[in-house]
Amino acid sequence: MDLKTLTECESFAIAIAIKAGEMMKSMSGRCKQIEEKQNYADIVTEADKAIESFVFEELRKQFPTHKLIGEETASKAVFTDDPTWIVDPIDGTTNFVHTFPFCCISIGLAVNKKCVVGVIYSPFLDKLYTAKKGCGAYCNGAPIRVHNCTSFQQALFICEMGNQRDDEKRKAVFANMEAVGWKCHGLRCMGSAALNICMVASGFAEAYWEFGLHCWDMAAGAIIASEAGGVVIDTEGGEFDLMSRRLIVACNESIATQLSKELPVHLKLERDD
Ligand code: IPD
Repeated sequence: MDLKTLTECESFAIAIAIKAGEMMKSMSGRCKQIEEKQNYADIVTEADKAIESFVFEELRKQFPTHKLIGEETASKAVFTDDPTWIVDPIDGTTNFVHTFPFCCISIGLAVNKKCVVGVIYSPFLDKLYTAKKGCGAYCNGAPIRVHNCTSFQQALFICEMGNQRDDEKRKAVFANMEAVGWKCHGLRCMGSAALNICMVASGFAEAYWEFGLHCWDMAAGAIIASEAGGVVIDTEGGEFDLMSRRLIVACNESIATQLSKELPVHLKLERDD
């Protein structure tokens, strides 16, 4: 995709993210219809569904040949080399339900299976994160950059419990937290994968890891973090795979590698595709 097309895609994604943010705000605190998906902690609201329908409709009108993958409509993602929009209508649905303001809409565009445009908008925090391939990463129009830190002890890490509730996941989550938490400045769990990635991209934390994510949680963030100078890898140190349901996002190679080695459990999850 040339720069002109990338810019058009980014501008369109920004415009619909802002409208989706208005929808989020207007539906906040009055969301009555909350459904459980896999378990009691894995939830979807009427707002997630309404926003995904709105975003998909707009993307279909504007880019009729592009493919779409969305949290509320995908069971198995069909991921090809075609331009593919990957959308999480509300990342941090649990936060949204509780009116904890750390939630956002996340819109990513992948071409040849690589993320090339990312737009993440949090209407409650009033933060719009954007990036396109080769052009840097921005928050509300100002450039953002990862923090330059190579000391594991002086690092602040972000991780999540996620929304699976099986025993294997529980053991992995707490083993990993225990192994890392005591050796660094601190651990944070804030409930939105996309915004967690933006915290690393902005230089507010050194790294974030999670097992059990989906492609819509990571697509936009992956390009934002890379364009901010960060490193996005598989938890075991290999190349990042958008469909593999796990990642490390770090401020640099050194922290990414150290974190990968310190994590005692590397869960392998059923892929998204
Ligand atoms: C969830 C959030 C959460 C993460 C989960 C995701 P959702 O996304 O990003 O922080 O721990 O793994 O599924 O369900 O709110 O879109």
